Amino acid sequence: MKVAVMGYGTVGSGVVEVIEHHSDIIPKRTGGKTLEISHILDLRDFPNDPHRDLFTKDFNDILNDEETKIVAETMGGINPAFDFTMKLLKAGKSVVTSNKELVAQRGLELLQAAEESGANYLFEASVGGGIPIIRPLCQCLAANYIEGIAGILNGTTNFILTMMIEQGMSFDEALKIAQEKGYAEKDPTADVEGHDACRKVCILASLAFGKHVYPNQVETEGITNISLEDVSYIENAGGVIKLLGQIKYISDDEIAAFVSPAVVYNGSQLASVKDVFNSILVRGDAVGDVCFYGPGAGKLPTASAVVADIIDCAKHTDRKKIFGWGPGSEDYVVDYKERIEMPFYVRAKASPSEINSRFADVKFLSRKGQPSDEVAFITDIMTENKLNEKLDGINVINTIKVTNY
Ligand code: HSE
Repeated sequence: MKVAVMGYGTVGSGVVEVIEHHSDIIPKRTGGKTLEISHILDLRDFPNDPHRDLFTKDFNDILNDEETKIVAETMGGINPAFDFTMKLLKAGKSVVTSNKELVAQRGLELLQAAEESGANYLFEASVGGGIPIIRPLCQCLAANYIEGIAGILNGTTNFILTMMIEQGMSFDEALKIAQEKGYAEKDPTADVEGHDACRKVCILASLAFGKHVYPNQVETEGITNISLEDVSYIENAGGVIKLLGQIKYISDDEIAAFVSPAVVYNGSQLASVKDVFNSILVRGDAVGDVCFYGPGAGKLPTASAVVADIIDCAKHTDRKKIFGWGPGSEDYVVDYKERIEMPFYVRAKASPSEINSRFADVKFLSRKGQPSDEVAFITDIMTENKLNEKLDGINVINTIKVTNY
């Protein structure tokens, strides 16, 4: 079967590589069909690439090619990826993608278009890179009421935090290495400010609970405020700081979803997830906690998931997959600061007695080189709004959520 690839960056070139290098096993997985790259769409020139005859700058070459029935969209971004994908789906071609920004922002419209034309729109690579999570969540855990999901969903930030914690490397140096390794987004602020993790939270929440959650509904905070001092206090408390996406079921009409740095105690399965690895913990009422772990970014791991979707499309040309969700609503994602209770880590310029006069039950932390006018502590469980009320007038340096996953 002929397959086109739109976007020949890290992931797109990985898709071509995996299809070509695995040409022996692919027919065994597709029911005998081989995969052949028909076009590679990219505006850049690749004069020395062995696929030079396959390159085009004209999207219509793919749209109008009747033999190309499956297209991998690895361009990233909303435009022109949305227009191209919509036209392909309406033309009855199946599209597979690693583009989490597009799925999170416009997934509902694209899924509806796929539904109408009988094509597939698959996006296993959009969350967790090479980790299988979309199918397990929709199929293997289908018998559960999902109570919550917590995930380390961004490889770049997990890599940066690991390098800072374990090697004392500076933030900028660690980011540079992540970019060189092909982990980071084109604009790495999407990684470090949490937007990439936010998009993945939207996709997971939409799949788990059936209603579209949009990025602007998910309060998002990145890792730029995390200091080595915070890392040290948390280490002494028996935990680590991770950038976590959290989703909590409240009712069929309400969920909470947010992205932020979070304290994870060492007993958690999420605490040992290092480097570029991601992990997604799903809490189901019947199964309990299950964790999906693996490489969350990078050329071949992400291509592994994209090509798996291509194989699925090739194998099931007549069968429509059923991953999808319905419309969301403005008040579907609640204000977690008002509704969700948890403990918090606080670092402040204050005295222990000042803190004790405001908080009933705190656990003070210490670190090497702690200044005499600095306190750090873990609070009892409360909402974030309540925490901020209690801290009013205190010279707070940082607060971090403590997770119960
Ligand atoms: N920039 C992303 C990350 C790529 O670092 O996780 C995979 O989505």
